[in-house]
Order: sequence, then structure tokens, then C-alpha cells
Amino acid sequence: MHAIVCVDRNWGIGKNNGLLFHIPADLQYFKKITENKVVVMGGNTLLSLPGGKPLPNRINIVLTDIFTRDDCIIVPTLKELFIELEKHDTNDVFIIGGAMFYNTMIDYCESAYVTKVDDFCSDATAFFPNLDKKHNWSLIKESNNQEDNGYNFVFTQYINTRIKEIKY
Ligand SMILES: NC(=O)c1ccc[n+]([C@@H]2O[C@H](COP(=O)([O-])OP(=O)(O)OC[C@H]3O[C@@H](n4cnc5c(N)ncnc54)[C@H](OP(=O)(O)O)[C@@H]3O)[C@@H](O)[C@H]2O)c1
Repeated sequence: MHAIVCVDRNWGIGKNNGLLFHIPADLQYFKKITENKVVVMGGNTLLSLPGGKPLPNRINIVLTDIFTRDDCIIVPTLKELFIELEKHDTNDVFIIGGAMFYNTMIDYCESAYVTKVDDFCSDATAFFPNLDKKHNWSLIKESNNQEDNGYNFVFTQYINTRIKEIKY
């Protein structure tokens, strides 16, 4: 299981239930990595997607006990989420947000794809855990500098050397 996220310099990821940046090249990168895989998210993130709709060409699993719907798999509890995840190859599973759900799931992930944008959003209200401050996480890959839509950023990958075992 992996996490995938786009952060600012302060590990900010969102504001007003939306993203901080519009970077088409990062959206393409996200699509390339997650297409035909399993994406797992919290309820707010589903509602924040275009049209509030699940992502096409992916199995969408959403943790929420507030609503149900039939265009994606809704699980109301973490236990039910873990049971659902047993049906899938763990290598195909991507945690895609948001802040609350990343916090819940990050310790179970073996790696994290982190797009780091060289910008600071003082109005960010949602944050990803700072992996540089978590001693079991190590940066293993960093791309060359990228530029798109006026933003400078790098694609990085971190690995977790102490993956938490799923128990329920
Ligand atoms: N930059 C990025 O890469 C990125 C990616 C995704 C999202 N985001 C941003 O993140 C923000 C949304 O984050 P968020 O924290 O508000 O929402 P979220 O994590 O998407 O959803 C929170 C909801 O998920 C459910 N949930 C999460 N953890 C749970 C747990 N341990 N147990 C039970 N239920 C749990 C709850 O659902 P119910 O209350 O419905 O039961 C909770 O209210 C938005 O601004 C979005 O744009 C950024």
C-alpha cells in the first residue's frame, strides 16, 4: 500500500476542501501512477473531486459513515476498510487523501509518492505528516526540477522502514 500526495514547503495539502495548486503535470503523474489501480480516500476528498465523482478507470473506496452511494465502494468503519482491502493486491492500493485519512493510514503504507512544490501557502488548512520528521521514513528518490503552470516542483518517493501491521 502506498500514499500519493502533493505538498507545499510546509507539507500543506489543501484549503477550503480544495487543492492548493493547479499543476496539470502533477495531475498527469497522479493519473499515470494510479490508473487501473485501487484508490482509497476519506469522505471529504471524494466530495472535493471534480463533480464530487469517483476517479475513472480506478476502483474507488471511500471511508465515511455520513453517506452511501452506488458509484463507488463506501466503507463506514476502518475495520470494514481493512476487510475490503484484503480483496486487493496491496501493491495496487493507493491512499489519496485527505489530511485526516492520510494521518490514519500513513503508518500502514510501505511508500509515499510526494510531489514537493517549491511554494508556501500561508492559508493551507490541511496537512500531510512531515515525513522528514518521522524517523521510520526515508527519502529514496527525487526527480530533476520540474516546472508547470508557473510552479517549480520535484517528484519524490519515500519508504517506510517500519510498516504497521493491519489488525482488526
Ligand atoms: N494535495 C493533495 O495531494 C491532496 C489529496 C487529497 C486531498 N487533499 C485535500 O485534503 C483536504 C481534505 O482533507 P480532510 O482531512 O478534510 O478530509 P478526508 O481525510 O478526505 O476525509 C475526512 C473524512 O474521512 C473519514 N475518515 C478519515 N479518517 C477516518 C478514521 N480514522 N475513522 C473514521 N473515519 C475517517 C471521516 O468521514 P465521515 O466524517 O464522512 O464519516 C472524515 O470526516 C481537501 O482540502 C483536499 O483538497 C489534498
